[in-house]
Amino acid sequence: MTRHFLNLADAGGDAIAAMLNDAIDRKAVRQGWPKGKADADAPLAGHTLAMVFEKNSTRTRTSFEMAMKQLGGDSIFMASGQMQLGRGESIADTARVLSRYVDAIMIRTDDHAKVEELAHHASVPVINGLTDLSHPCQIVADLLTITEHGKSLPGLELAWLGDGNNVLNSIVEAAGLFKFNVRIAVPQGYESDDSFIECARAAGANVTLTRDAAEAVSGADVIVTDTWVSMGQEHAHNKIAAMMPYQVNEQLMAMAKADAKFLHCLPAHRGEEVTDAVIDGPQSVIWDEAENRLHAQKSILRWCFGQI
Ligand code: CP
Ligand code: NVA
Repeated sequence: MTRHFLNLADAGGDAIAAMLNDAIDRKAVRQGWPKGKADADAPLAGHTLAMVFEKNSTRTRTSFEMAMKQLGGDSIFMASGQMQLGRGESIADTARVLSRYVDAIMIRTDDHAKVEELAHHASVPVINGLTDLSHPCQIVADLLTITEHGKSLPGLELAWLGDGNNVLNSIVEAAGLFKFNVRIAVPQGYESDDSFIECARAAGANVTLTRDAAEAVSGADVIVTDTWVSMGQEHAHNKIAAMMPYQVNEQLMAMAKADAKFLHCLPAHRGEEVTDAVIDGPQSVIWDEAENRLHAQKSILRWCFGQI
C-alpha cells in the first residue's frame, strides 16, 4: 500500500519513534560533511520528489530539497501559480500525471481536503508540507529537537501560547501518540481543532485549555508559539490585540522549569508572539529546530518508501 504522510497518525507513534532514531543516527554520521554530499548509503538514489507549493516557504522547501540530495535522490520545485493547477487543472488530474513522472509528491496548500484528494488520486506517496489544518513534518522536527535537548516525550509538559493553528493541531496529535501533556492558552475565538484534542485525550494525553498564559507555562518543560497571523489570514487585523496577553516574554519564561526550552517553527514576528530576549535567549532552541527539519524530512521520506 502507498504510504502517504498527511498527518502524524498516518505513520503512528511507533513509526515516528523509529523515524526519530533514524534521524538522530543519520545526523550524527554526517557531522562536518558538506551539506550537499550524499549519505554513504544514498538510500533514495534514483528517486525524485515533486514539491508543489501553493504558499510561500523557506524551511520546508530547502529542507526537502537538501533531504533528497543527501538521500541520493532529486527534487523538482513547482510553484502552483506556474503550473496548470494554477489555471484550474484539477488536483486529481495533477496527481495522476505527476505520479507518472516522479516517485513522491510533497504539497503545501490551504485546504487540507486538497492534500487528501491528491493522495487519493496519486499512485506515489504524498506528503503534507503544511495545510491550514496541520503541519506534521514540522512536528517530527520538533519532537527530534525536544528529544535531542534531553527531554523525554512521555509525561512532557508542553505549553502552547497564542493562536490555535495548524502547528498546534499537529502538536496535539503528537501528544496523543507519545502520551505527553499540552497546556493550551489561546484567546477566545482562536481555539484549535476539537477533533485533534478529543483524539489526543482518548489516547491518554492530558490536554488542558486555559485563557491564562501564566497558568499554561507554570512548571512547563517546553514553551511553543507561532505567528499570530498564518499564511492566508493576512486580513485578520483584530487578531493582534487579542493575542498580546499571550506573547512569550522573559516574565513568562521565568515561570516555566529552569531548564525549559523555547520552540518556534519560524518564521517569527519578533515583538509580536515572542520577544527578542526569549527567541535569542539561552532557552531558545529554534536554530536546532530549523536544522532538524532537514534530518526529520529524510526520515519521513524513508518511511514513505518503506525503508523505516
Ligand atoms: N516552519 C516552516 O514550515 O517554515 P517555512 O514556511 O519557511 O517552510
Ligand atoms: N502557522 C503558520 C506556520 C508557518 C510555517 C502558517 O500556517 O503560516
